[in-house]
Amino acid sequence: MGEHKRIGILTSGGDCAGLNAVIRAVVYRAIGTYDWEVLGICRATQGLMSNPPDVVRLDISSVDSLLTVGGTFLGTTNKGDPFAFPMPDGSVCDRSQEIIDHYHQLGLDALIGIGGDGSLAILRKIAQQGNINFVGIPKTIDNDVAITERSIGFDTAVNIATEALDRLHFTAASHSRVMILEVMGRDAGHIALSAGIAGGAHVILIPEIPYTLANICDKIMERQKRGQNFTLMVVAEAVRTESGEPVMNTNRLGQCRLGGIGQYLSDQISTCSGAETRVTVLGHVQRGGIPSPLDRLLGSAFGVAAVDLIAEGKFDHMVTWQNRQITSVPILEAISQYSTVDPNGTLVKTARGLGICLGS
Ligand code: F6P
Repeated sequence: MGEHKRIGILTSGGDCAGLNAVIRAVVYRAIGTYDWEVLGICRATQGLMSNPPDVVRLDISSVDSLLTVGGTFLGTTNKGDPFAFPMPDGSVCDRSQEIIDHYHQLGLDALIGIGGDGSLAILRKIAQQGNINFVGIPKTIDNDVAITERSIGFDTAVNIATEALDRLHFTAASHSRVMILEVMGRDAGHIALSAGIAGGAHVILIPEIPYTLANICDKIMERQKRGQNFTLMVVAEAVRTESGEPVMNTNRLGQCRLGGIGQYLSDQISTCSGAETRVTVLGHVQRGGIPSPLDRLLGSAFGVAAVDLIAEGKFDHMVTWQNRQITSVPILEAISQYSTVDPNGTLVKTARGLGICLGS
């Protein structure tokens, strides 16, 4: 089965469901089919910055029970860009060479990185600089990695958000309220749109489609006139105020994070429609838990395909899911674009066809 290889695998960026399914598939394929060695790298690139590197040798028994486990057992981080790594004294330092040196010291022949667009861009830059044979696998609940129709974690997040809407529906109907669910997704509205349709929302707001409060209130009042005294609404975290201001939370360190649009809308809607409103911010619940069957399937398929790319010597590529097939594209192609909701796409048309208010 070709020459013996030692490969490394790491998970980078925010965790999500399905990462362990990928790791398991990589180990099964690399060891079971090719008889290679697999080293798991802990806490993303930080495991390769540590001296000695923080790695764990993976065998089939160490990953056997991982298919249904959420998160990533290798650990991850979405902070600490190695090219501008924050040091304890407050300075920033380029630590990319330490990662490259440790990759070569470990005798690795290739590296698989599971990450979103930001992580894949950083990992590719390190790989180019250090002559590392790199293969990428897309993951993110936001589903904003370009070219692939799906990334690991998205389906589970949509399932969780849909279940939340299913539950909120009862309280909305029982109390004649407007129930607002704020979901994650960064600058893309994929989670909100998919969960909104699947969960029977009456109003869906996404960053890609501008809205007016008057349109939302009209929808609520039109429903009331028909005797439907409640409204279920889902809003993506990056939706702005009506006048276009981003809504962010700032912590005591001055770091800004998306969040709070649900409360803004609640205040505005109760003022303009008189309806009683409540807000639920779903937050990191969307990233956790048992991966859905689709994420397990996709994770398994991506893991096997990534190992096969290494066997073929096809580096600097990312595995993708397109038209029910696994394929691969140059990573550069994937990271030079960003996948947002197409305002003229099928799901937006479906939502409009169902009479769902998209705010415009
Ligand atoms: O990119 C995934 C994501 O969950 C976004 O949807 C969200 O805006 C962000 O990460 C939250 O990041 P953190 O875990 O750092 O709060």
